[in-house]
Amino acid sequence: MALRTAFTDLISVEHPVVLAPMSGTAGGALAAAVSNAGGLGLVGGGRQGLEWCREQLGLVVALTSRPWGIGFLTWGLETPTLAAALEQSPAAVMLSFGDPHPFADLVHQSGAQLIIQVTDLEEARQALDTGADVVVAQGTEAGGHGGVRSTFPFVPAVVDVATHTPVLAAGGIADGRGLAAALALGAAGALIGTRFEASQEALVSPETVKAIVDGTGEGTSRSRVFDIANGSAWPATWTGRALRNPFFSQWLGKEDELAHDDDVLAAYQEHVSQGDMSYETVWAGEAIDLIDDDPPAGELVTRIANEAEQALNRVLSR
Ligand SMILES: Cc1cc2nc3c(=O)[nH]c(=O)nc-3n(C[C@H](O)[C@H](O)[C@H](O)COP(=O)(O)O)c2cc1C
Repeated sequence: MALRTAFTDLISVEHPVVLAPMSGTAGGALAAAVSNAGGLGLVGGGRQGLEWCREQLGLVVALTSRPWGIGFLTWGLETPTLAAALEQSPAAVMLSFGDPHPFADLVHQSGAQLIIQVTDLEEARQALDTGADVVVAQGTEAGGHGGVRSTFPFVPAVVDVATHTPVLAAGGIADGRGLAAALALGAAGALIGTRFEASQEALVSPETVKAIVDGTGEGTSRSRVFDIANGSAWPATWTGRALRNPFFSQWLGKEDELAHDDDVLAAYQEHVSQGDMSYETVWAGEAIDLIDDDPPAGELVTRIANEAEQALNRVLSR
């Protein structure tokens, strides 16, 4: 039994497993590996800019003939970057965090499917008004930036609002049990980030992989500390979930003070440039309890799809 859903039919992929477009982490090689294994790989365009996108899209185009896509942070997206990506004929473009209206027509005119990630019901309605072909309902368990809703009640609420538009669940899914649960909640698949951060093709350091493999869900928190420390322009609406480290613990609750302390910010940059993990940001979600290896990403896609089938069969055979 293959896990065929409205999403797999729409995008023409084998498995309802989507690589989250993790900014700077999900490059062309990772996206291609996921697509070649039958999932949908999304390059993490984030706010990486035109040159990075051109380079990574060159890779994905060279490495796969299956459907692939790219994701952007809507609040920081510039039309020339989107236009350059569309020239490479992605099967899908994902927009997250911000008003998608200004970009929707361009995506649709290219023939790509428009995927919009949402963190509350108001954003879900906005996504549907904009003409989203797929909506990603992201729960607060997610690694990286997001909102405050929990995946378990939020996904079916978005499914109800979306009616015939396929919904992907995101946030806290790292194995086939999570994918099976997402499908049971009415989702047409899962969008997965943190699990793929610990994979062979991810653009992360060995220290980051080790921190994820060793980390626990309790060891992650959502805050603005790392955005402030990194001088990032992220809107305060969406906080980032990362592994806590000594720098984080020192400044949690003192974000305004941190923002104005130039000496501390300079020292932070110095430590990060030396790879000091007491300072380094490791974006990670609550599902890191379930991660204890860093295999090739294609193996993960097959593993997650097989485990989900087994989990569903187990439930039905009781
Ligand atoms: C390292 C990292 C970077 C991320 N960067 C982005 C991004 O640039 N754009 C985006 O839409 N989502 C980004 N996300 C969030 C994902 O799209 C997704 O919602 C999340 O990873 C799902 O939760 P999970 O990490 O528990 O699988 C990022 C997540 C991680 C872990």
